[in-house]
Amino acid sequence: MFRHIDDTAALTLADLRADIVGIDTPVPLLDGTERPYIFLDNAASTPSFRRVLRCIEDFLPWYSGVHRGTGFKSVLATEVFDAAHDVVGRFVGADLATNTVIFLKNTTECVNKLANRAGLGPDDIVITTAMEHHSNDLPWRKHCRVIHCGVLPDGHLDLAHLRAALQEHRGRVKLVAVTGASNITGFVSPVHDIAAWAHEAGAKLFVDAAQLAPHRKVAMLPDDDPRHIDFVALSAHKMYAPFGTGALVGPKAFFAQGEPDMVGGGVVEIVTLESARWNDPPHKDEAGTPNVIGGVALAAAIGVLEAVGMDAIARHETELLQYSYDALEQVPGIILYGRTADFAQKVGTITFNLEGKHNSLVSAILGIEGGIGVRNGCFCAHPYVKHMLGVTPEEDRIFTEEVIAGNKSRMPGMVRASLGCYSNEADIDALVAMLQRIQRGEYRGTYRQNVASGAFHAEGYAPDASRYFRYHI
Ligand SMILES: Cc1ncc(COP(=O)(O)O)c(C=O)c1O
Repeated sequence: MFRHIDDTAALTLADLRADIVGIDTPVPLLDGTERPYIFLDNAASTPSFRRVLRCIEDFLPWYSGVHRGTGFKSVLATEVFDAAHDVVGRFVGADLATNTVIFLKNTTECVNKLANRAGLGPDDIVITTAMEHHSNDLPWRKHCRVIHCGVLPDGHLDLAHLRAALQEHRGRVKLVAVTGASNITGFVSPVHDIAAWAHEAGAKLFVDAAQLAPHRKVAMLPDDDPRHIDFVALSAHKMYAPFGTGALVGPKAFFAQGEPDMVGGGVVEIVTLESARWNDPPHKDEAGTPNVIGGVALAAAIGVLEAVGMDAIARHETELLQYSYDALEQVPGIILYGRTADFAQKVGTITFNLEGKHNSLVSAILGIEGGIGVRNGCFCAHPYVKHMLGVTPEEDRIFTEEVIAGNKSRMPGMVRASLGCYSNEADIDALVAMLQRIQRGEYRGTYRQNVASGAFHAEGYAPDASRYFRYHI
C-alpha cells in the first residue's frame, strides 16, 4: 500500500541503524564542543525509523478524518487506519476473528481501559507483581484488591508465590497482570506458563508488553490454548513510531459487554435524548477522533520490525547484552543489577550504580560531558527498584518522608542504559569509556544538586536550545 512497506523485503538488521532518524545528531558538551548523540534510553522512548517518517509523508496528502466521511480521502484513510489495527493484531499473534485491537494513547491508557472495563468490584482480586511499572499496578488498585506476587533477591519473579496466591484465592482472582519484560532488569516473564496457571485457577492473563514487544516476538497463541494470553498492551513510542499510539488487544466478546469507560463521538451507533446504543469493538472503546497518524506509524514500524525479523533482533540484543556486561564489569566500583546467566531471557536494559556516586550525578556527567543519553532514578517502578537496591522498610519510610517534605536529594535510584535494535558495540564502548573517566575523577564539571528534584547540574552548562531547534513560524 505504501512505498516504505514495499521496500522492506530485503531489510536486514544491519540496515536499521541508518534508518534511525537523528542517529548522528551532534549535541553540545560542557567543554563547548559537540559530538554525535549516543542514545541509550530506548526503554523510555525510541527514535523514529526513517521508513516510518516516509510512510507518514506518503500518507499525509491522503490524511482525513476516518469513519463516516464519504469523500475518497476519508474512505482511503479509513481503510488504512482500520488495516493498521489488523497489522498490530497479527504482530502479537492474535486470532482476529475473535479478538479486537483498540488504539489508545499508550500502554498506561490501555491498562487503565482494561481495569475500567473489567467489571471489577471490591471482592475481586487482581494478582500483579512487585516487578511492575506503576502503569500495571496503580490502575488495578483503584478497582479491587491487589495482590503483588513477590520477587526473589536476584529480581526474578517468585513464581512459587504466584502459584500459591492463585491456589489460595482460586475463583476470586479475575486477572493476573504481569509485565512481559521488566523496565528495570529487562527480565522476561514466562508469560505462557503464567497463562496456564492463571487459566487453571479461573483467571485471565494480561501482559504489559511495553518492554517486550520492541524486543521479542509476542505470541498470544490460539484462544483455546491453555497457554494463551488473553490481553496484551503495547506502546508505539517504544517501537520506533513515536506518534502517540498504544494498542490494547483482547477478546471482542469481552469488549462487546458492558459500558465504555469513555463516551462521546465514535462509540455509538445511535443516540436518542434518553439512550445510546454502543458501537461494536474496537470503536466502542475508541472515543472521539482517533490518532490516525499514530496508528499508521505503528503499522509502518511493525512492517520494518517484521521485515528484519523479531528473532534476528532478539539474537543481536542477546549478543550485545553479553558484550555490554563483559565490558561494564571492567569499570571499577560498578554495581550491576539484573545480571543473569541467560541473556536470551532479558531484554536490553542495563541498570547500575557507581559506588559512592549519586545515580543522578553519574547520569548528568554522561549526558553533559559524554553526549550519552541515559536515565536515572526509580523509573516508575519504585517498589522493584528499592527491592533491587536492598532498601530496608525503615530507610524507605525515611526517604518517603523526605520526598513528601520536598527533598529528593537522597531518593534511592539507579542509572539505566537501554538498547534499541540499532544499538551497537561502539555505543557501549563510549558508555564504558565515560564511566571509566568518571571513576578516575576525570570529569571537568562542578556539579550541584537541586534538592527538590534530586537532579545534578553542571555549573556553566546552559546551551542555547534554540540553536538546535526552533519552530518555523
Ligand atoms: C513495562 C512498562 N509498562 C508500562 C509502561 C508505560 O508505558 P507508556 O508510558 O507508554 O504508557 C512502561 C513505560 O516505560 C513500561 O516500561
